[in-house]
Amino acid sequence: MLHPAGEDAAAIANLFWVMAAGTVVIWLIVMGITVYAVLGKNRPKTERFADRFILLGGVAFPTVTLAALLIFGLALLPDWVRTDRPDLRVHISAEQYWWRVAYEMPDGSLVNTANELHLPAGQTAEFVLNSTDVIHSFWIPNLGGKMDVIPGRTNLWRLRPTDTGVFRGVCAEFCGPSHALMAFPVVVHEPADFQTWLVDEASAVAEREGHDLFVSAGCGACHAVRGTSAGGAVGPDLTHFASRRTMAAGILPITADNLQSWLIDASHHKPDVRMPSYASLTATERDTLVTYLLDLK
Ligand code: CUA
Repeated sequence: MLHPAGEDAAAIANLFWVMAAGTVVIWLIVMGITVYAVLGKNRPKTERFADRFILLGGVAFPTVTLAALLIFGLALLPDWVRTDRPDLRVHISAEQYWWRVAYEMPDGSLVNTANELHLPAGQTAEFVLNSTDVIHSFWIPNLGGKMDVIPGRTNLWRLRPTDTGVFRGVCAEFCGPSHALMAFPVVVHEPADFQTWLVDEASAVAEREGHDLFVSAGCGACHAVRGTSAGGAVGPDLTHFASRRTMAAGILPITADNLQSWLIDASHHKPDVRMPSYASLTATERDTLVTYLLDLK
């Protein structure tokens, strides 16, 4: 959060540094007075002096300081959060323990994906936040502040990234044993590159070798692969799974070994996960599934 790459984060970092500097100054003043009181050659003070000192130091100073801080903080609230039309709308649903992500296309249709967020730099993205189970919180420290994701209500949240790069998004509200294991990479592109990415992401994939096993083993009941008969909506969409930077919501790099291990016992990596164990498949069958998944580019 102290390396801002978004307008909201820059305002927060600015506020942090002003408050940190103010804190140091006030701390030095209080320590100076304390040292003077303990070690200084004190002439007895009159009661009138003591009353004034308490009134100034204990009432007037905090009131003025806090009022100034409030005015400064309110002025930092960016106008575009309230007024601009967003350039992009992304629907985010937080689940135990992953992120459902859907990009709203100009025709109103949604492009489903999961556990990775792509944004165009210099444009305002509006997030439509929902949860299906417990309270989570959506936070990308480099881009801005956090917003709770609450079951049964829709929270709107806007961010405007300024720098391209890859950042880390996290869940910032304790939501269960694997709360710390639901992260998501955030890739900020130049706007033209973002459009290219979105068109790729919106494309379907063809059924290929391994698809039949993917469906017969039950994977397709929970996971969708657009363009095939696998249309489950319980778990993360896997259409372009292999083009993502991580698997299992930001916790593992996508490798054959990690996929094998995940299929055998996902709860070893992520306690309380809803992904069942596929240890009952043969090693050859798991190999086939891993190859199939690594091919979903
Ligand atoms: Cu979701 Cu913490």
